[in-house]
Amino acid sequence: MVYNFGAGPAMLPVPVMKQIQEEFLDYNNMGVSIIEISHRSPEFTELLNETDALFKELVKLPDNYQILYVHGGAQMQFSAIAMNFIGLKPDKKAVYYDSGNFANLAAKEAAKYGEVIIGNSSADTNYNQIPQFKADQLNEQCSYAYLTSNNTIFGTCWKEIPDTGSTPLVVDATSDILSRKMDYSKFGLLFAGAQKNLGPAGIAMVIIREDLLGHQLESTPKLLNYQLCQQKHSLTNTGNTFAIYTINRVLRWLKGKGGVAEIEIRNRKKARILYEMIDDSSFYKPHSINEHRSDMNVVFNLSEENLLQQFLSEAKENGLYALKGHRNVGGARASIYNAMPLEGVQSLADFMKDFERKNG
Ligand SMILES: Cc1ncc(COP(=O)(O)O)c(C=O)c1O
Repeated sequence: MVYNFGAGPAMLPVPVMKQIQEEFLDYNNMGVSIIEISHRSPEFTELLNETDALFKELVKLPDNYQILYVHGGAQMQFSAIAMNFIGLKPDKKAVYYDSGNFANLAAKEAAKYGEVIIGNSSADTNYNQIPQFKADQLNEQCSYAYLTSNNTIFGTCWKEIPDTGSTPLVVDATSDILSRKMDYSKFGLLFAGAQKNLGPAGIAMVIIREDLLGHQLESTPKLLNYQLCQQKHSLTNTGNTFAIYTINRVLRWLKGKGGVAEIEIRNRKKARILYEMIDDSSFYKPHSINEHRSDMNVVFNLSEENLLQQFLSEAKENGLYALKGHRNVGGARASIYNAMPLEGVQSLADFMKDFERKNG
């Protein structure tokens, strides 16, 4: 048995992958595969509608929000957000909260289209915490505020999504979408690359408040124009039908598991197993400060860093795959998204205790 702790593309629920395998050659008794039917066929339209409905139900999405499936994964949205939103106000200004690598990349991308103000940053502590939310930069001239709800590389998260008042809030939820309850009415836009809690890489779900559509810069490429995407029900060109189908099956699985409230309880439990074990030991050191720890990415190092390679290779021999940390932090990282079962986390905790006993 192998447990995949990769940060993304990450493991999908095993029952979903089995279902996909079973359905692959014959979708819905059509005698053809989902990847060879038209994106405009009635069968695909039905699938798309069902996927929207499932997502809406799972997050209790208010009626004034639209769901888009956009090509290019999360980083493509870094550009698209700026192009669609920076023009919301004539000053073309946006405030970015720099909580890690991806927030930083998003800010750099936006700076190509307008003025970016860094609301606050935790770079000086190598992002071991979320920067304190400061509202001083937010005002009527500000097009939007931007933050990354979960920082995949550093293992931190915004426990509370701050209130940005009348400034639309844009959130990159790539690594915690559907992992915990969120009040979507707080968001101007929320987006997530699919490769962690949704499905395959290369596509993003974008949830957008309707009144924010239609403000794109003239130079916005056709395929990044959110308004057009909404008007075409995400089929401005041939959609990534396989990815949308996979998302559909993942959402069905999540609903069957009791939805977001239930998965949040499970996720909390999984993360607690690892954090408690790390806190009880002087052999392992967490990267994030206690108050901002992510339930999705547990980032830690060994107090004797020279043992890291041995730790990683022995973990792999024990079926615990892809635990190497990101190069910006070093150490190890256990990504434990929705699909990671409790047993996987327990196996890792047992392995870590054993490793400490032998080498500590
Ligand atoms: C929070 C966050 N934002 C953005 C990205 C970039 O995603 P993509 O590779 O789909 O552009 C990642 C990738 O892991 C991420 O974790």
